[in-house]
Amino acid sequence: MARKKIALIGSGQIGGTLAHLAALKDLGDIVLFDIVDGVPQGKALDLSQSAPVEGYDAAITGTSKYEDLKDSDVVIVTAGVPRKPGMSRDDLLEINLKVMEQVGAGIAKYAPNAFVICITNPLDAMVWALQKFSGLPTNKVIGMAGVLDSSRFVHFIADELGVSVQDVNAFVMGGHGDTMVPLARYSTVAGIPLTDIVKMGWMSKEKLEEIIQRTRDGGAEIVGLLKTGSAFYAPATSAIAMAESYLKDKKRVLPAAVYLNGEFGVKGTYVGVPVVIGAGGAEKVVEISLNSAEQKAFDKSVGAVEGLIEACKKIAPKLA
Ligand code: APR
Repeated sequence: MARKKIALIGSGQIGGTLAHLAALKDLGDIVLFDIVDGVPQGKALDLSQSAPVEGYDAAITGTSKYEDLKDSDVVIVTAGVPRKPGMSRDDLLEINLKVMEQVGAGIAKYAPNAFVICITNPLDAMVWALQKFSGLPTNKVIGMAGVLDSSRFVHFIADELGVSVQDVNAFVMGGHGDTMVPLARYSTVAGIPLTDIVKMGWMSKEKLEEIIQRTRDGGAEIVGLLKTGSAFYAPATSAIAMAESYLKDKKRVLPAAVYLNGEFGVKGTYVGVPVVIGAGGAEKVVEISLNSAEQKAFDKSVGAVEGLIEACKKIAPKLA
């Protein structure tokens, strides 16, 4: 049986980390793609030279030709520009929308059967545009944000309580921006909801609010520290978890930006919700019940994403 093929469009900070993780996890052969000639080839060679030490057999190649994406099983898209200090994810809209048009055409031509995971920001609008530009079915094009935002939330909770990250499960819905909705009621420590953790007096309400805000600002905090780019280790590892669930048909329930067709009362928009990821791609949206405050926060987040999608339609009328 042939190995699976994973194409990484964009070979920058996240792209290179994705390639390393995919190789270490033996997910398949890897093609790094970038418009800057030399970068994907250089990273591929460097990663190939670490194979003898790690013992992985994946073939890792670099290219600037879309035809090398042929028959990819998974395509992960990070092509575009990242944030600089002071920029919001939304500031990237116009530049990265043009990138999605090129990338969408390349995927449509050479990898129409792939499972596509978009990471490029502003995430929810870019994955929406990528699906439109590529014409691939909506269940095969999803965005990575919720796993990352939830992982940030988990890290902060575990760190605050002094417990293992393994016993914390956290859950963030909505758009990947300032309006994201970390859900305390559905986030747990060994099965105990955070709301009960507060009632028990293990964490103060104020501390929980602080952690929720720090989660929302998680990306900006790292941009502010790095100054020359944005986060890449945690985004890459989050996307690999999604790719692995698809390739191994694990059917993990992960928060991700998926196309909603009436679920949660939303139609025609990509936004972060829990979804089962398996061999069928985004197989099932899990419609959890939201209380009125959660629903209000989610609606506000959906409104922000819809605003970005409207802005995309103005820039690229063919998306309308
Ligand atoms: N086609 C292919 N690759 C492109 C294109 C394009 N049209 N335009 C830019 N690229 C490449 C760049 O040459 C660069 O190597 O995309 C890569 C992006 O890498 P980085 O600048 O290192 O950015 P990274 O940190 O990997 O983030 C990528 O993910 O989280 C988001 O906001 C982030 O949108 C950004 C994306």
